[in-house]
Amino acid sequence: MPTYYVACTLGLEEVLARELRELGAGSVTLRRGACSFVDEPATAYAACLWLRSAIRVQEELARGPVRDRDDLYALASTVDWSRSMTHLQTLAIDGSVKDSFANDTRYPVLVVKDAICDQFRAATGKRPDVARDRPDLPVKLVLQGEQAILYRELGGEPLHKRGYREVLHRSPLNEATAAGLLLLTDWDRRSPVLDPMCGSATFLIEAAWLATDRAPGLGRTFAFERWCDTDLGAWRALYDQAEARAAAGAERVPKLCGNDRHPGAIAIAQQAIGAAGLGGKVQLVHGDVRDFAPPFPPALVVTNPPYGERLQDDPRALADDWRALGQFLHERCGGASAYVLCGAPELSRQLGLRASQKFPVRNGPIECRWLRYQIDAR
Ligand SMILES: C[S@@+](CC[C@H](N)C(=O)[O-])C[C@H]1O[C@@H](n2cnc3c(N)ncnc32)[C@H](O)[C@@H]1O
Repeated sequence: MPTYYVACTLGLEEVLARELRELGAGSVTLRRGACSFVDEPATAYAACLWLRSAIRVQEELARGPVRDRDDLYALASTVDWSRSMTHLQTLAIDGSVKDSFANDTRYPVLVVKDAICDQFRAATGKRPDVARDRPDLPVKLVLQGEQAILYRELGGEPLHKRGYREVLHRSPLNEATAAGLLLLTDWDRRSPVLDPMCGSATFLIEAAWLATDRAPGLGRTFAFERWCDTDLGAWRALYDQAEARAAAGAERVPKLCGNDRHPGAIAIAQQAIGAAGLGGKVQLVHGDVRDFAPPFPPALVVTNPPYGERLQDDPRALADDWRALGQFLHERCGGASAYVLCGAPELSRQLGLRASQKFPVRNGPIECRWLRYQIDAR
């Protein structure tokens, strides 16, 4: 059975492992920023469709010692590439290189491309084209020291691209990170959820999909659907089942409300909510958190306030906003579990609340904490 490697946001490995075990994946092993598992291909199709916290699913094709160009060419030639594609399809090779015979990825990537094209030329007289955009076969080469691994990537487009976000908010949260953070909370998937600084509403959309049992991969396509050895019958069955589950859960959208003071963010959130099939099911309020009166008492508050990631942010104004958020939680969210993503400890101190749990997570390049606060009932 193949070994699969599933990448996630740093800090969400346990969440991803739990998701994989719930899918029934075999031999799940935690790695840094990833998990691996060993199972039938159908489990990997299900992983693409169902994993909320995953960013990429890759199948290992070959692994071996590589000291020079010829070793790499030989390793790439051991793979039967006709299992994945025909010479009429397209491929792309992406690489990461550390302490290897090559200084950067360009040369080893060319060597792998030559090995693949030579194999097709020998068999058919023709070679496949390389396509940067939407290749049928995305190949990944990892060269670390004297070891090389070749993968094929099942998703094509990363899994966090669910298809509901056409326009980007200026500092959006990655959808898979947002979903993973939600899975770290104690939320029962039914009770009311609030995001008082919601930006493009990623938390709220991911919460709705979680509550309604909607697979995050519905409505998009994956590279593996175009591979020669894909069991399309098994894939169709998984997809149909996911559609049935989404239809059965559609009415279970909990009370969800987002607030943001930026009118552009509210417009983007509105568009994304519509594209996610949630039109009319998420309340949006335009205004400052200082004036936000939640339309219902929340059980869960999740939010990702600005923490000075943009150069033009004024530190004093930021600190004031965090103080206002703390006051909002204290005065208007009594009894809720509140989780705040913070990339600057001095700002979280402005909340004036004591965190009961702290989960380290990486948001893009920034080391963050997902801070939990239990707000006293008033
Ligand atoms: C980092 S972004 C949130 C991104 C969001 N999680 C998403 O996925 O798009 C922070 C948001 O907080 C909003 N914000 C900052 N201070 C605010 C305040 N005092 N009241 C309301 N919204 C505020 C900003 O307008 C911005 O949209």
